[in-house]
Amino acid sequence: MRLVSGIKPTGGLTLGNYIGAIQQFVQLQDELKDAEFFIFIADLHAITTPIEKATLKKNIKDIAALYIACGLDPERVTLFVQSEIPEHNQLAYVMESTVYMGELERMTQFKDKRQKQTEGIRSSLFTYPALMAADILLYDADIVPVGEDQKQHLELTRDLATRFNNTYGDTFIVPKGYQPKTGAKIKSLSDPTKKMDKSSDNQKSYILMLDDLNQVKNKIKSAVTDSEAKIYYDVENKPGISNLLTIDAALLKTTIEDRVNHYKDMSYQDFKLSVADHVVSALKPIQEKYHALIKDPSLDAILDAGRDKAKMFAHRKIQKVYKKIGFQR
Ligand code: TYM
Repeated sequence: MRLVSGIKPTGGLTLGNYIGAIQQFVQLQDELKDAEFFIFIADLHAITTPIEKATLKKNIKDIAALYIACGLDPERVTLFVQSEIPEHNQLAYVMESTVYMGELERMTQFKDKRQKQTEGIRSSLFTYPALMAADILLYDADIVPVGEDQKQHLELTRDLATRFNNTYGDTFIVPKGYQPKTGAKIKSLSDPTKKMDKSSDNQKSYILMLDDLNQVKNKIKSAVTDSEAKIYYDVENKPGISNLLTIDAALLKTTIEDRVNHYKDMSYQDFKLSVADHVVSALKPIQEKYHALIKDPSLDAILDAGRDKAKMFAHRKIQKVYKKIGFQR
């Protein structure tokens, strides 16, 4: 069995990225002893919107260090940078020649982004799901652990794999998505009906994994809740409290019911302080490891080894795909 996933280095990683994605990668790595893991930094995806060179370079390294700081074991997991494997682009073009315009137009992430920005939208923002499909299909992924916001892209990937197979014969594995039971969509702290998103203008709406820990506490303390002063889980009517309960349950690896039982008689203030403590306890050791790793030259060696292993796989796969299409003499 093979698992494949990635994160794009557009900004600092959020608590949503951690709970929805990285924590799952680590858990699956520990549970599925025989599975192979390809986890990458999706840097090609980062230029679908403008980003400065120095920021991009820093973000790429940061994600690599954070993957390891969170517990991914480079001996078990092939960690690499997407742009170092040109086969991603090669297969992306094949996927662009498989996907229909109408399918790309239906992608909610694209529709949302287009609403916010009307001019200068890069065409790669539109074709992005074709590249994402290529990222997955290139490595014959069986399982793709992602948060809820990527589910639609994954469904499209399944459709494209099936369409290609129907046209050219069995070539791709049709992958399955995998979402965490709790925390597949962590919400904004300032507007808990929306996703926690690093591209938000309000810095209080998200927690970055590398935020100063006092700031983390303050952000949780100032999270928007409601005036009922009763703690229970109800996403519709109490989105703020429900989001904090979800964060707490996900970080403590327990259920939401367990957390509701624990907190039900507490004041909002004490509840928030306790959640804040749990977030800080989760982030503190990660930050410590990150600071040691980011200066360590072995990080580059890990990414070099990951690139070489991924490259071997990707090269073989693209040769097979090209042959099926009829590109080889
Ligand atoms: P990206 O970089 O936006 O997010 C990385 C991962 O974090 C999850 N995530 C969340 N989970 C829960 N709550 C949130 N608020 C939250 N915000 C983000 C995302 O669902 C994702 O799993 N296109 C992808 C990157 C990518 C990829 C791939 C993933 C490129 N190629 C191939 C899997 C396989 C993206 O932009 O994710």
